[in-house]
Amino acid sequence: MNFKEEIQYKTGQIEKMIEAYLPKEDGYQRTVIEAMNYAVLGGGKRLRPMLMAETAALFGGAGECLARFMMALECIHTYSLVHDDLPAMDNDDYRRGRKTTHIVYGEGMAVLAGDGLLNYAFETAASAFDHAEDTTEIQKIAQALQILGKKAGIYGMIGGQCADLKAEDPEENVTKDMLLYIHEHKTAALIQAAMMIGAVLAGAEDEAVSRIEKCAYNIGIAFQVQDDILDVTSSLEVLGKPVGSDEKNNKLTYVSMHGLEESRKQVEELSREAITTLQSFRERNLFLEKLVEQLIYREK
Ligand code: IPE
Ligand code: IPE
Ligand code: MG
Ligand code: MG
Ligand code: MG
Repeated sequence: MNFKEEIQYKTGQIEKMIEAYLPKEDGYQRTVIEAMNYAVLGGGKRLRPMLMAETAALFGGAGECLARFMMALECIHTYSLVHDDLPAMDNDDYRRGRKTTHIVYGEGMAVLAGDGLLNYAFETAASAFDHAEDTTEIQKIAQALQILGKKAGIYGMIGGQCADLKAEDPEENVTKDMLLYIHEHKTAALIQAAMMIGAVLAGAEDEAVSRIEKCAYNIGIAFQVQDDILDVTSSLEVLGKPVGSDEKNNKLTYVSMHGLEESRKQVEELSREAITTLQSFRERNLFLEKLVEQLIYREK
């Protein structure tokens, strides 16, 4: 299999796993579950679960509990998108090539679908305890849950989204420091969660987990800079979400602050640095290295 076939195959496997874990659409809560499933099944790249699985593989692989955490993280990521698209935030009508959840189900149901996904993430991840075989595994699951909570919360993604909203205010003096804070938290934090949880569940040592955290930071910042680039250079058809969203919302982005050329350079440099870190562990995961490299050139 070449890289393209391999990534397609692996994405398909993740897709099947996600479908298997989705809640059933029934009862009086049916509509909120339909909205949740609509958002999740929209066909994203599944980058975060993939990074989690591949980082676990780098450290020798993880057991049963890995899939539950992959699902949990994709649920949290998807909820962040559902809320990010709401009129009260970025006010966007398309996501993953389809109408956004609030356009299809209404704003109230989209708020609930986001809340539902966040909670369902922890329900799913915590169910890993039911299958833990020994105390070592229980400890790994507990550590993974702590990472998930922190990186998704006020000291992670939510903190970043808070600063991102504040920065829209024309009165706010957005410094380079604040922009970096935004990128680090709204985007890099969940990528860090992906890779750190993969490492922890595979039994990596603390020192290795710290190096993975730094490596994922670089991947995450590069990922958001590329997202800012594509918001200027791509199209709705290719991207699956509206372009020009940042300008419309008066967002200060890496591109508006540093220009396209410097932004592209940053994506490449940060990604190469991350790959060098990945090459420095005892074992290699060539697919993971290639995946990070491909993200430099991603068009969606
Ligand atoms: C979009 O993330 C939001 C950002 C953090 C830039 P992705 O580009 O991974 O979105 P999907 O999951 O593929 O739709
Ligand atoms: C949002 O960044 C990151 C999230 C936490 C959802 P953007 O607002 O740039 O993400 P897109 O471009 O809408 O996917
Ligand atoms: Mg946003
Ligand atoms: Mg947005
Ligand atoms: Mg964007």
